[in-house]
Amino acid sequence: MDFLKITDITPAQLREILAISSKLKADYAKGRAPPLLGKKTLLMLFEKNSSRTRVSFETAMAQLGGHAIFLDARASQTSRGESYYDTGAALGGMADFIMARLNSHADLEALASGSPCPVINGLTDEEHPCQILADLLTLQEKLGELKGRKLAYAGDCDNNVARSLMLGCAMMGMGVSLVGPQKAKPKAEYLKNAKAFGTNVSFTSDAASGLANSDIVYTDTWVSMGDEKEAAARLKLFAPYQVNSKLMAYAKPTAVFMHCLPAHRGEEVASEVLDGAQSIVFQQANNRLHAQKGLLVWLAGRK
Ligand code: CP
Ligand code: NVA
Repeated sequence: MDFLKITDITPAQLREILAISSKLKADYAKGRAPPLLGKKTLLMLFEKNSSRTRVSFETAMAQLGGHAIFLDARASQTSRGESYYDTGAALGGMADFIMARLNSHADLEALASGSPCPVINGLTDEEHPCQILADLLTLQEKLGELKGRKLAYAGDCDNNVARSLMLGCAMMGMGVSLVGPQKAKPKAEYLKNAKAFGTNVSFTSDAASGLANSDIVYTDTWVSMGDEKEAAARLKLFAPYQVNSKLMAYAKPTAVFMHCLPAHRGEEVASEVLDGAQSIVFQQANNRLHAQKGLLVWLAGRK
């Protein structure tokens, strides 16, 4: 079983992973850390930069009694042309899990097709499902049951985080309002798949109506890793969707603000919001650790 897209699991399995994450978090806080992944190894293959994903997975393995290996793709044989399939077959036979952050989702699929052990998407150009586990864990802590809540996402609605987020929220029974310029409208396939979970999922370019009545306001960078060449045009395109006090005022007064981080202050988010009372971004970032633990333990239980 691999975790390449958030929809690789069912809504019921998503809730199971969140429940395990939450329990492991509470247990760890009480000093209880059974070595549930004793002697297990996680291989972490990175083609793109990372702070949170790397540290959360490595710490997760340490806290669960296992071991993590960091392999920088630039120092590995994949960068010299070894195929992703062969890499998966060779390294996946030694490790118990592979987590990979690759440029291309097709390469991740090739890695997974070769690997005898589960492969986890640590972010590709297509999706970022591990992020969404932590986001939903954080939201459950803040808001309790999430069914019927409304999340508004402002900015680049056609990036990896937006895609996994709209699907993950819909899987939890949440409404999703994507707000951004027409050029960044999510691919039709994602909107269709998210709507298939039976909740209200919509896209608009009008920030006031899109954010109205929302319980959560979420944003991500306007220039994802790999989009750097288009940076100047993107900063202009998305400028009207900066999450600042004016935009936050369209949401419910009780709304929380989320960001997967890293944030670009003064671009997609104003510091007044990132550092403001509604922001839960660092709780969200810290929960990457607990969500990663829940996912790893859940995957180990399925083998
Ligand atoms: N949010 C996230 O994935 O952060 P990193 O790029 O630092 O891993
Ligand atoms: N959309 C961003 C997320 C970073 C965690 C990127 O792909 O760069």
